[in-house]
Amino acid sequence: GFEIEIASTGQVVRVAPEQTVVQALAGIGVEVQTSCEQGVCGTCLTRVLSGEPEHRDMYLTEDEQAACDQFLPCCSRAKSARLVLDL
Ligand code: FES
Repeated sequence: GFEIEIASTGQVVRVAPEQTVVQALAGIGVEVQTSCEQGVCGTCLTRVLSGEPEHRDMYLTEDEQAACDQFLPCCSRAKSARLVLDL
């Protein structure tokens, strides 16, 4: 697992291996809009302020993924211990 920090509030939530980032955020009352939930549509695109995402989507280009400043929390995870999200 890894942790997500909400930049605007400083809230931190742990993402368990069996849940998505979107599900973990919902658990603390932070709603991210989703549609496909499979990393295809881009609806859930969220800015990453620090940390390194583990991209599992098919929406971002390779260059966009490499920039590590945005990710798709319906399916993507983290390589670093914590991701700080612009939420
Ligand atoms: Fe479609 Fe996340 S909901 S990419």
